[in-house]
Amino acid sequence: MSDSKRIPRHLAIIMDGNGRWAERRHRPRTLGHRAGARAVQVCLDFCLAEGIGTLTLFAFSSENWNRPAEEVGALMKLFLRMLDNEVDELHRRGARILFVGERGEFPAVIQEKMRRAELVTAGNTAINICIAAGYGGRWDIVQAARKLAREVRDGSLAPEAIDETLFSSRLCMAGLPDPDLFIRTGGDLRISNFLLWQLAYTEMWFTETLWPDLDAVTLRQAMDDFASRERRFGLTSAQVSGTAQGNAA
Ligand code: IPE
Ligand code: IPE
Ligand code: MG
Repeated sequence: MSDSKRIPRHLAIIMDGNGRWAERRHRPRTLGHRAGARAVQVCLDFCLAEGIGTLTLFAFSSENWNRPAEEVGALMKLFLRMLDNEVDELHRRGARILFVGERGEFPAVIQEKMRRAELVTAGNTAINICIAAGYGGRWDIVQAARKLAREVRDGSLAPEAIDETLFSSRLCMAGLPDPDLFIRTGGDLRISNFLLWQLAYTEMWFTETLWPDLDAVTLRQAMDDFASRERRFGLTSAQVSGTAQGNAA
């Protein structure tokens, strides 16, 4: 299990089920979000201990802006509190923090704290933590297309030069490997506009566990399942075992 191929370089998670966790307790949904913030710590401890290089957490989708104003407001408060309380500790632990998504829609104070967190932690190498906030996979592809279109218009890029590598380089997570393992908690079997481009060859793992109930045992199950899978990247099994290679980078 110590084989580096058995450990995802990049783990991407849809942290789902906060609302239901609270509703089952007859409590307001916002309480579930607060409990979910504690589960982030569990997850982070696990990833640091396992040596996972990049952890991407889907915290707030582009569609989540359409939730009731009260819930959105409570989530903004929670983001702000986490930015105030957690960033220094993450920095101390050597985490580099990145935010991916349309951040222009967030309150200015949150945008400023996101910028500061990225700046302060830019040189850290223990783990990359990408927080997908105001993120949508379709939005990401559209903003990359828009950047490329501008470059073509300005004469700095020939349309023929656009290939998959170049396109990837204009996406939000440029420079990071594609996720090896995707986890969604909360029991729903869908991607919900998460990393549409980057999940092309990612191994998917779903659990009924609601995000606030996440524990190391559940994460271990996902890791063990991942370690047992054969990733073929379009090749045959014989090819894969013959070369013992496979990389969709
Ligand atoms: C995920 O939990 C957190 C966010 C989307 C912000 P939900 O709030 O979606 O919880 P459920 O899916 O309604 O239980
Ligand atoms: C996906 O969960 C987004 C986040 C966890 C941040 P949703 O709860 O928004 O997804 P749907 O609506 O069930 O597809
Ligand atoms: Mg949900």
